[in-house]
Amino acid sequence: MDAKASSVMEKITSLAKRRGFIFQGSEIYGGYQGFWDYGPAGVEMKNNIKKEWWKYTVYDREDVVGIDAAIIMNPTVWEKSGHLKAFTDPLVECKVCHKRVRADNEEAVADHEKTHKDKKDIWTEPKTFNLMTEVLLGTTEPKEKSYLRGEITQGAFVDFRNVVDSTRVRIPFGIAQIGKAFRNEITPGNLTFRSREFEQMELEYFVKPDEEDSKKIFEYWKEKRKRWYEDLGIDPKKLRFHDHEPEKRAHYAKYATDLEYEAPFGWSEFEGIHHRGDFDLGNHNLSYRDNLTGEEYTPWVIETSGGVDRAMLFFLIDAYREDGERIYLKLNPKIAPYKVAVFPLLANKPELLAKAKEIYKNLKQKLNVVWDDRGNIGKRYFAQDEIGTPWCVTVDFESLNDATVTVRDRDSAKQERIAIDNLTEYFQNKLAA
Ligand code: GAP
Repeated sequence: MDAKASSVMEKITSLAKRRGFIFQGSEIYGGYQGFWDYGPAGVEMKNNIKKEWWKYTVYDREDVVGIDAAIIMNPTVWEKSGHLKAFTDPLVECKVCHKRVRADNEEAVADHEKTHKDKKDIWTEPKTFNLMTEVLLGTTEPKEKSYLRGEITQGAFVDFRNVVDSTRVRIPFGIAQIGKAFRNEITPGNLTFRSREFEQMELEYFVKPDEEDSKKIFEYWKEKRKRWYEDLGIDPKKLRFHDHEPEKRAHYAKYATDLEYEAPFGWSEFEGIHHRGDFDLGNHNLSYRDNLTGEEYTPWVIETSGGVDRAMLFFLIDAYREDGERIYLKLNPKIAPYKVAVFPLLANKPELLAKAKEIYKNLKQKLNVVWDDRGNIGKRYFAQDEIGTPWCVTVDFESLNDATVTVRDRDSAKQERIAIDNLTEYFQNKLAA
């Protein structure tokens, strides 16, 4: 990563910490590589991302239902899915200092070679390294070896028959899921970009086995997924598709495309869109019978697989703005942690405090609102800009006479007076726009 890019990442990492978005996991014990905690602002934003995804993928459609499968599954699932054999990355080890990196991570390899400039031939031959995280279950020895799921996907296949039997779905239909996945990544890094514990939001869309039709459905989902990120504010110029060459495809993919974002550390995968064919349902010996036509077949699967943590990181990077001294996050209000901040102009004036608290409590019934009475008004605007709060409400002495407040817009920093009675509707209209 060049100096400019690493300075952007340092700024984002520092803002994420000081404003309560993302903390290093177990920080008081020196951290734990590849594990991250979300703070008060972070958990709100992450929940908003998941809510928006669920609305777009499940509630706004008639052909998708949701599930929430267990993280630990019968180990046979991972045998059948091919993960125990084929879910691997190539690893090389430095013969000088024993550092391990992914052999296909050209940047990490080149960076490390710089630390041993005078030496040649520093790497061992690449070895394949399985990414599944093992866990031991049971109270008596020998304990049973099991796995934390390496992708949330298998739940949708293992539950396929139960979903068909318990609902009215008919092919084509989708199963949506959001949940944690775990991978023994060799080189976690770039904040949450590559973590060992992360969350995925996935759609498995089941279709009739047909080359031409399934290709059309694949193209349809590619565009739908790109539009979702654009609608939530990602700069379209920073998005592109990258088709996988056959030798780079995951073991389950008939063909695959990554939706990529131009991050400070280069074009990077946001989300994978995969045509999984009948790989999974076939391996699990599952088929589908159309009750109306009597046809029986193994459906093919088109998958959209996004990372919640990666989406959150890229939304933060994309929203980051510097305007002179002012730093603000130009987040779409739908995913901003809080919609509105409410302040009394002066915290030591009981009449202002009481009025501001009343407004705060009222707004809170309909919107996610944050209270702030620390420091002076300038500092509060500064803090809310960095959190990405789209609107700040200030209750001043005029408010007590004319029942209006100042509403300040994050992006333009312009202020206007709004009647207290109209505030909820005012913000709801802005959010719906
Ligand atoms: N079910 C298919 C699947 O898991 P993938 O391309 O391996 O496909 C899908 O992962 C998405 O999950 C990625 O595009 C990324 O957003 C997220 N993801 C994968 N590994 C990750 C990691 N180590 N840390 C954070 N997010 C990750």
